[in-house]
Amino acid sequence: MSAQPSEDHSSKDPSERSLFLFPKWANRLPFFFISGSVLFLLFIIFLFWYVFSPKNLDVGYAPKQPIPFSHQLHAGELGIDCRYCHNTIERAGHAAIPNTETCMNCHKIIKADSPHIIKLRDSYTNNKPIEWIQVHRLPDYVYFDHSAHLQAGVSCVSCHGRIDQMQVVHQVQPLSMSWCLECHRAPEKFLRPKEFITKLDWKAEDQLKMGLYLKDAHHIRPREDCNTCHR
Ligand code: HEC
Ligand code: HEC
Ligand code: HEC
Ligand code: HEC
Ligand code: HEC
Repeated sequence: MSAQPSEDHSSKDPSERSLFLFPKWANRLPFFFISGSVLFLLFIIFLFWYVFSPKNLDVGYAPKQPIPFSHQLHAGELGIDCRYCHNTIERAGHAAIPNTETCMNCHKIIKADSPHIIKLRDSYTNNKPIEWIQVHRLPDYVYFDHSAHLQAGVSCVSCHGRIDQMQVVHQVQPLSMSWCLECHRAPEKFLRPKEFITKLDWKAEDQLKMGLYLKDAHHIRPREDCNTCHR
């Protein structure tokens, strides 16, 4: 009995079949057409959102600096520690950009006749600071503090990427609220022993295990309430 219907189908008389002007699959065409246009529309909306939403405008921001200073050369190849130049970073909220004097410790002698270094020396002798263009910038209503993060064992690389491989500094993280909170909720994914915070290529054998250990041992509890970052 149950096998009957399929036999029925094959034995239909031909005149009844010719009622279908188009093959059966053609009935689905409008469906494909409509869902296709909806997807296309969504794609266009996504594209606009992605390209023009402010947080994504900032990622990759790499302004041309007055002197082509290379982190790849100084921090990477020469291996100068970040804190030699950004020397207030562990004490103050803001990371000082080094003054010309710091550069002249070396460049009084090194490459002294290069046009870039001559510009540097002019700044030094005329006491006119180089006007470096700021790359990272949070809105004024956000409170941020480097030292609290470094003290807890968050490395520069978690927020700035591989600066030691950049010829020109660019922003790699969105610095958005959701980005901050992602780590505040699960800092164990990033915590490392403090002596490695400026070793950007350092990796733990088992990040989660070590992170959870450090979080516990140092009672690290990043806060999520609004007035932590908006005060
Ligand atoms: C020899 C000095 C020197 C060393 C070493 C150095 N920096 Fe810098 N850094 C600078 C100068 C000068 C600037 C400003 C020009 C520029 O943006 O390239 C700067 C800019 C930056 C900026 C962008 C600041 C902004 O405007 O938002 C970041 C982030 C940064 N450095 C991180 C690091 C990290 C991480 C290290 C260690 C891996 C490091 N720096 C090592 C001199 C140095
Ligand atoms: C610890 C020593 C040291 C410090 C501090 C230092 N530099 Fe250098 N810098 C070097 C060395 C070494 C070179 C490579 C010289 C070479 O190519 O022979 C170099 C190369 C450069 C060059 C490329 C020069 C050229 O024309 O080839 C620039 C530009 C430069 N440094 C700028 C800076 C600035 C700006 C600072 C301060 C923020 C700074 N340096 C701090 C050691 C230093
Ligand atoms: C938890 C994330 C985080 C870590 C870790 C971090 N930074 Fe930053 N950094 C930021 C943010 C966010 C800004 C923008 C601050 C602002 O606009 O007030 C910034 C700005 C800077 C600046 C520009 C000057 C300033 O203070 O605005 C420098 C230079 C810098 N960072 C260097 C470093 C170095 C070097 C390290 C490691 C020793 C480091 N940062 C670690 C998030 C971080
Ligand atoms: C990669 C991890 C990470 C990211 C990203 C991060 N934080 Fe934190 N933050 C921490 C940790 C860890 C602490 C220290 C908590 C503790 O010591 O208990 C902290 C502490 C703080 C504090 C408290 C400082 C104080 O004085 O007590 C503030 C404010 C803060 N973060 C703001 C921010 C803001 C704003 C951003 C985004 C721009 C941000 N953080 C991104 C991990 C992070
Ligand atoms: C860990 C730090 C942090 C905490 C905690 C935090 N914020 Fe924010 N908030 C930020 C940052 C960073 C921005 C800037 C975002 C940007 O520029 O894209 C921001 C932006 C905002 C804005 C501006 C609108 C926007 O989305 O750009 C509002 C409103 C805001 N926060 C409300 C809150 C409220 C309400 C809370 C508590 C539930 C809170 N924030 C907790 C870091 C934080």
